[in-house]
Amino acid sequence: RILIIDFGSQVTQLIARRVRESGVYSEIQPFNAVTVETIKAFNPKGVILSGGPASVTGIDTPRAPQGLFDLGLPVFGICYGEQTMCAQLGGSVEEGDHREFGRAFVDVTGDCELFKGVWAVGAKEQVWMSHGDKINAIPEGFRTVAVSSGSPFAAIANDEKKFYGVQFHPEVMHTPHGAQLIHNFTHRVCGCTGDWTMGKFREEEIAKVRKQVGTGRVICGLSGGVDSSVVAVLLHEAIGDQLTCVFVDTGMMRKGEAEEVVTMFRDHYNIKLVHRDAADMFINKLDGVSDPEKKRKIIGATFIDVFEEEARNVGGADFLAQGTLYPDVIESVSFTGGPSVTIKSHHNVGGLPDRMNMKLIEPLRELFKDEVRILGRELGLPEHFVGRHPFPGPGLAIRLPGGVTREKLEILRNADVVYLEEIRNAGLYDAIWQAFTVLLPVQSVGVMGDARTYDYVCALRAVTSTDGMTADFYHFDMEFLARVSNRIINEVKGINRVTYDITSKPPGTIEWE
Ligand code: XMP
Repeated sequence: RILIIDFGSQVTQLIARRVRESGVYSEIQPFNAVTVETIKAFNPKGVILSGGPASVTGIDTPRAPQGLFDLGLPVFGICYGEQTMCAQLGGSVEEGDHREFGRAFVDVTGDCELFKGVWAVGAKEQVWMSHGDKINAIPEGFRTVAVSSGSPFAAIANDEKKFYGVQFHPEVMHTPHGAQLIHNFTHRVCGCTGDWTMGKFREEEIAKVRKQVGTGRVICGLSGGVDSSVVAVLLHEAIGDQLTCVFVDTGMMRKGEAEEVVTMFRDHYNIKLVHRDAADMFINKLDGVSDPEKKRKIIGATFIDVFEEEARNVGGADFLAQGTLYPDVIESVSFTGGPSVTIKSHHNVGGLPDRMNMKLIEPLRELFKDEVRILGRELGLPEHFVGRHPFPGPGLAIRLPGGVTREKLEILRNADVVYLEEIRNAGLYDAIWQAFTVLLPVQSVGVMGDARTYDYVCALRAVTSTDGMTADFYHFDMEFLARVSNRIINEVKGINRVTYDITSKPPGTIEWE
């Protein structure tokens, strides 16, 4: 196992993820909670120091426990981690005169265990940099093994002590061989065997949940999405009937989805499930509302009311389980630590735990979406469920710019079915992060069978993404778009025109509202 000491970088979780991908268990501890004793108690095979926003040159800056460097453990410092290791071992760091951000190239000038089989001396390698300070002298016992134009000590090594430092970020995708460097650290340098798997994660989480919950009762909001489904099945495996799932049917789901959720969780998994059909209530509350934020807030608040009522009906609970993922955690924390701008009010059951005096259980908090999918498969969830595109909490309401009516919901549902069917038939579903239709509050004139039509316009959306935070529109071929357009106009009553949305995120967002 590997200990990651977090100095507050935006991408510390990515380090953990790369370590997991190398088949090694890791835990992240914030720098201000780590002591030599806690390290010894954790008993890691090696320690990684993360990047962070602080400057080593400031007074009273974040440090690793000094005793760490006397434990005989391998240490890998990344960015700020390299700088603090340098400063703490007798090197020096100064404020840089030019900051290095983004793509850069390093020249590999020396060999070391970290580079074995990945980077060769003399090669020029692409990396991702993000730093302001600069090391200007390295501690005794270290050698420089890579340099860049902005970083004369882009990578340093002390083979005898097994201390390594890099100024760049090997954990991000923009450092193409970064994952292999981290693999070399965990395997070659620390001697980890690499037999950790998602199966182990499942066992560990089940044990943790059992310990946390004891004989208490847990309630879990089921939405039909991958995340809450995985949480429900994991918890059910851990605590059986101490878990009750509540599925609030907002009436904003796609065709057939509500039935599928109920059948699968109640009949197949035998999970205690409360199904509350609240469609009328949601539609009534949304009547005449067209402002996107108002719609989101109404849905969020109504959801909480209904959920709370149902939770009370089943006798309340001590814990609320949520499928919060790591990207949800970072999206809610701004880069500078200050309040970030709210682009959209995300719909979740935030606020409930306080109101109902429940403690939170979030077993997926450290995982990324694709890791959750692996865990879902591990738990035996069917492939078409695990591989599902994300679906927003407010559902179809935010795919109907303008007012929400039963009629429009029906038209949207019918168009969505056709579009997704064509995507699946073309074998494109898994290549796309998310695909859906949007029904515009615009009518256009058409001609069908010699008659004039005056019907709604439908926009198709499909994007590729790795985390939903940035996205590009999917480049369909024209034949495909023509087929979908044809079918929608022929088969879906109420639509006479189809457009394709070619906006990426940013500047657009994935959903229209
Ligand atoms: P945007 O539209 O902000 O969406 O680019 C990014 C991802 O988040 C999903 N999304 C939501 N998910 N509750 C959710 O659980 C919400 O309120 C919500 N709004 C957007 C969206 O579908 C995309 O995957």
